Amino acid sequence: MRKFLVWFFSIWVLTVIAVIAVAGFRGSISRRPPIEIFPDMDRQPKLRPQTTTKFTGFADGLSSRVAVAGTVARGSNYADTPENTGKMAGTTNFVEAIPVAVDARMVKRGQERYNIYCQPCHGLQGDGKGITSRFGMGNVANLYQDRLIRTPDGDLFTTITAGKSTMKGYGAQIPVSDRWAIVAYVRALQVSHYGAKADVPADQLSKIK
Ligand code: HEC
Repeated sequence: MRKFLVWFFSIWVLTVIAVIAVAGFRGSISRRPPIEIFPDMDRQPKLRPQTTTKFTGFADGLSSRVAVAGTVARGSNYADTPENTGKMAGTTNFVEAIPVAVDARMVKRGQERYNIYCQPCHGLQGDGKGITSRFGMGNVANLYQDRLIRTPDGDLFTTITAGKSTMKGYGAQIPVSDRWAIVAYVRALQVSHYGAKADVPADQLSKIK
């Protein structure tokens, strides 16, 4: 046991001396250059950002490259127009009405897209009772609620684009024109939900159950 302790302490003392010999006292000042254990990490052939360079490949002498003209930042829209953002240009105010022309074909397209992307949660009629509500998703918004009827079209568009609280955004899956088509269809659902028998054209009354 004694022999082991003597060995142990000798090796420990030698190790301490060896470390101090190689690394020196931290913070002490010396005129000699430090020992570089990994010189290639201390000295890397790289350019620091936002400095100058003598590298002749860059005529402007800057170490950082300027983004190529016309570069679009990931997640940003192409241009700050109401059609792309759902907001008045240069502001964060929602546009009141859909800024593109709405026709029957567009609403039809919106119906199709709605049934693909929204219906699983919001339900075929927009009551928030889609198939997912049977599997525990209980807080899906009812699209007939007063607040969502009154809210500007740009708000609905932005909800589709970026999501809202627990709803995720669909901007990555649904192109801009289809998002407006869905907004138009959601408006159609809202109108039809509060529609009365008197709103139905006489020649189609017989089709209502
Ligand atoms: C995976 C389920 C799911 C899908 C798919 C989905 N939503 Fe939602 N949506 C939700 C939930 C959940 C909420 C409630 C969010 C909250 O208030 O936490 C919500 C809220 C909303 C609201 C209300 C936002 C507000 O201002 O409170 C609108 C409008 C809406 N969704 C529209 C859509 C449209 C249009 C689509 C299709 C492009 C869609 N949602 C697809 C789950 C979904």
